[in-house]
This record gives sequence, structure tokens and C-alpha cells, in this order.
Amino acid sequence: MNDKIAKLTKLADEFARAQVNKFGSMTPSRIIWELPLAKVEWLADIYKVDKDVVRIGAMLMDCQLGEATKQGRTDHEQMGAAAFEKLFIDSGMPKSKKQEREIFDKIENCILAHHRKIPYTCIEAEICANADCYKFITPRGVFNFAMVLGQRNGTEDNFDENIKAMDFKLNEKWNTVSLPEVRAELEPYYNEFQRLINEAKSI
Ligand SMILES: [Fe+2]
Repeated sequence: MNDKIAKLTKLADEFARAQVNKFGSMTPSRIIWELPLAKVEWLADIYKVDKDVVRIGAMLMDCQLGEATKQGRTDHEQMGAAAFEKLFIDSGMPKSKKQEREIFDKIENCILAHHRKIPYTCIEAEICANADCYKFITPRGVFNFAMVLGQRNGTEDNFDENIKAMDFKLNEKWNTVSLPEVRAELEPYYNEFQRLINEAKSI
């Protein structure tokens, strides 16, 4: 069992990194991709859950964002879950066995629920969604997003539009924060970046 989880972790890591390299700024960059990974491990210790599950969930929750953007699709969670299912089968874990099935269901929910379009069915999914918020509320996340927007849409005429996009993601993610430990860490950053974004909207 442990060697199969290790294999699945390796496959997920390789797949997610390959997607980052393939799609560049259309998918979360390596810088931003590694932010939630550190946080899910910290939260897994606090909530005493399986680190492998949340680590794989964090690696894969946005792994199909680039592909979805390219295809003009808005369901990167569904696409990510489909990619995960394939990796799960490749790792040699049978879904028919109870323990493996539980792991599958948890990781699938981590991916499908990270934008809260469906309910969390396990604390592991809530941990992944909360860890995802670091991508758009911390200084490293916010400055990275500004850089990404500049790459995607970086003309002077789009400045106000890009500031609005930063405001939208800052608040979307702040409204996703539900764990008290995450709220305590992110609240000072949220308040500060909200103040700066509001000021940036006016001349
Ligand atoms: Fe996402």
C-alpha cells in the first residue's frame, strides 16, 4: 500500500510539473504551485490527516488549468479529477478495495471541491481549498499573480482590468478561507493587499 501511494505521489508530481512546463503562464507557475504544498503538510499535522492525500490533492487541483484554458473550458476541476483517475490506475491501486477506494474518494474531492462548487466530503478537501488561498493572498502569491497578468494581458490599457482581476481573486480566495489557522495567517495580508488594491484603483 505504502509503495503504491509513493508511486502515485511520484506520478502526480511528474504530471503536474509537466503541465506547468507545457503551459507556462496559463497554469500556476512553479513558484505559486509550491505555496499550497507547504501549507497542506502543516495543516495535515494540525488536523492529523494523511499527508499523502492532501499532498496529491494540492499537486493535482489545478493541474489541468492550462489545458482547460487552451480549450476554453471552465471545468478544470473535472478535468483534473479525470487526470487523477488515470494516475491512480497507473499507480496500481485498485478502486475496488475499501482502503484504496477511501483514498481515491478523498483525493478526488480535494480536486473537485477546491473552488467550493461542490461540498467538501472530507477535511482533507477543506485543507486543500484553504491552502490554495495562499496563491492569491500572500505577498509571494500576489506578486506572482501580478507578473502572470502582465504576461497574459500586460498592456497599459489593461492596467485597470488587471487590478480588478487581482481584487477579484483576493476576495474569492478570502471568502474560501474557513480554517482558523489559515485565517489567522492570511488576515493581515488580506487587509493590506485590499487597502493597496483600492488605492491603486484611483489616481
Ligand atoms: Fe483551481
